Amino acid sequence: MGRLLKELMKDILTKEELDKLYSGLDIIGDIAIFKVPDELSKYKSVIGERIISRLKNVKSVWCQVGPVSGEYRIRELEHVAGDNRSVTIYKEHGCIFKVDITRVYFSPRLSAERLRIAKLVEEGETVFNMFAGVGTYSIIVAKKKRNVKVYSSEINPDAYSLMIENIRLNKVEGKVIPLFGDSSKHAEDLKGTVDRVIMPLPEKAKEFLPKALLTLKKGGWIHYYTHIPYGKGEDPIEKAKAEVLGLKVVFGRVVREVGPRLAQVVLDLRAD
Ligand SMILES: C[S@@+](CC[C@H](N)C(=O)[O-])C[C@H]1O[C@@H](n2cnc3c(N)ncnc32)[C@H](O)[C@@H]1O
Repeated sequence: MGRLLKELMKDILTKEELDKLYSGLDIIGDIAIFKVPDELSKYKSVIGERIISRLKNVKSVWCQVGPVSGEYRIRELEHVAGDNRSVTIYKEHGCIFKVDITRVYFSPRLSAERLRIAKLVEEGETVFNMFAGVGTYSIIVAKKKRNVKVYSSEINPDAYSLMIENIRLNKVEGKVIPLFGDSSKHAEDLKGTVDRVIMPLPEKAKEFLPKALLTLKKGGWIHYYTHIPYGKGEDPIEKAKAEVLGLKVVFGRVVREVGPRLAQVVLDLRAD
């Protein structure tokens, strides 16, 4: 998919313009999302039309016109081609998720991470997903394991409603327990009862880490996602380790680059 946009536009754009075109394209169910630099924004509709004619399973195309922002981490989107519809069904690791791309955070790019975490969960665990969105991590964990409880906090009412629908769609009622509101409050209620915390909100990881720790049993795990700016020759994983209050880092990797010299890093932490 990396070069698709460039290939679709090569008969219209100059070489310089083609070089500036971003290659990323997110496919979420039957919706495609792309970004263009400002100077190429006049081509948004043409790009959209061409995506629709090339990718037969895409029915609606949106352009991301602003960054992921705000407490709910929503991207600013503009409809450019196909059905003017923002709701779709996305499939991942044997689960289905109803998503409204204009009202909730959603990224297909974390798919490998979600599966990695689900595989690490052991039977009998109590898991706390502090930032559940439409239920992605929580539902995949619950689908892959027979005997788990995944407490799942979400503060965006639209994401919370979709999580409830997704719990039903995937038949994981009783295993995924949706909690509406601020996860730092839910952390107080879960004090000392949790085997594993998932923290997929990189922008606020540091701030919420003490609350995550509060919920953990001895020997519990935290999957800590953070954004790390790094300079030439610097290792983002080493830099991330400085944030984790001296907790033992058992594993770390760069999940993806989220900007120029800005890495999303995950650390698996153990509280002894
Ligand atoms: C980056 S998204 C991750 C969503 C989901 N885990 C996923 O990967 O698709 C972070 C989510 O945390 C929610 N959120 C932000 N602050 C929160 C808080 N204090 N308590 C609970 N949820 C929160 C946002 O609304 C958003 O849905």
